[in-house]
Amino acid sequence: MMPTLEKRGMMQRVKMKKIIFVCTGNTCRSPMAEGLFRKYLEEQNINGVLVSSAGIHAFFGDNAAENAVRVCKQFHVDISSHRARTLTSYDFEPNAFFCCMTNAHKEVLRKYIPESKIFVLNVDDPFMGDVNVYRQCAEQICSCFADIVSCFCLGLKINPMAETDIKGIAEIEKSCFTSPWSEKSIAEELKKEQARFFVAKFNEEIIGYIGANNVLGEVYVANIAVKESFRRKGIASELLSWLIYQSESENADFISLEVRKSNSGAIALYDQFGFEKAGERKNFYTAPAENALIMTKYLKKDLWE
Ligand code: COA
Repeated sequence: MMPTLEKRGMMQRVKMKKIIFVCTGNTCRSPMAEGLFRKYLEEQNINGVLVSSAGIHAFFGDNAAENAVRVCKQFHVDISSHRARTLTSYDFEPNAFFCCMTNAHKEVLRKYIPESKIFVLNVDDPFMGDVNVYRQCAEQICSCFADIVSCFCLGLKINPMAETDIKGIAEIEKSCFTSPWSEKSIAEELKKEQARFFVAKFNEEIIGYIGANNVLGEVYVANIAVKESFRRKGIASELLSWLIYQSESENADFISLEVRKSNSGAIALYDQFGFEKAGERKNFYTAPAENALIMTKYLKKDLWE
């Protein structure tokens, strides 16, 4: 049986997803969106998300527009202490996702981040408008919130894999690999004492998983995969974070895996998590034949130096 994870500790270890609302001056649309979205997440009971806002051309320290403050108050949201800031390169962290007010803002961001990390609300600037214009703008912003949650899988759940998940995992296997695991082989793997398998679910749909074995403190990843339509949204990163936390909490020495040499996306993912190239296995893969890179993350680095 896999030891149970202490979830509160886990929440502190996994990097929280950041949602950054972006407009031009960071005084009207994006601060309203920031305040209103924070309240929305609270109401939906979605935790583990940091919400902020920024402008493409903001004057640092500007207050939010008076009508923006006034309208947010009508929604029981206080943005009176908001101060404008410009988007900087520090915002482009791997766990950051951006909600732009228009396509023009998106075009600026696209130079720095993949498109999968950008959501466009299509909301015009209410600047200089009266309070009704701001109210309409706020309502338009709020009407996008459910789509933002879906787009970035906010409220994603990661749990140890259960028998009821096997069918869903086998489907992902089929769509991702040329020699996929069958339902039977996944069930057999899962029964093993050393199995450490986690599943990512969004709205009850299985969208990714990671499977590993902890053999006397040496953790070997058998597989990791995410449904194609959910990629580049940080799902694999969250799954890996869980496995790393699980392994550390069991005092494991290292986590190791094989990856096709040509799988640059997966290699970039492992790089980001501190996996180092530890060797190469010739013709490890079939269909098509290819060498595997062995990549290892040392959990007790000082032991290995
Ligand atoms: N191209 C370039 N970099 C990529 C990438 C890609 N296709 N996919 C992931 N990365 C890197 C990026 O650095 C990314 O950060 P960024 O989006 O901020 O640039 C980082 O990894 C985290 O990506 P994440 O969103 O957590 O990964 P994912 O949920 O899209 O899942 C895989 C990544 C590899 C698991 C997924 O593409 C997949 O299921 N592939 C098919 C199965 C497979 O190849 N598994 C690996 C077996 S060894």
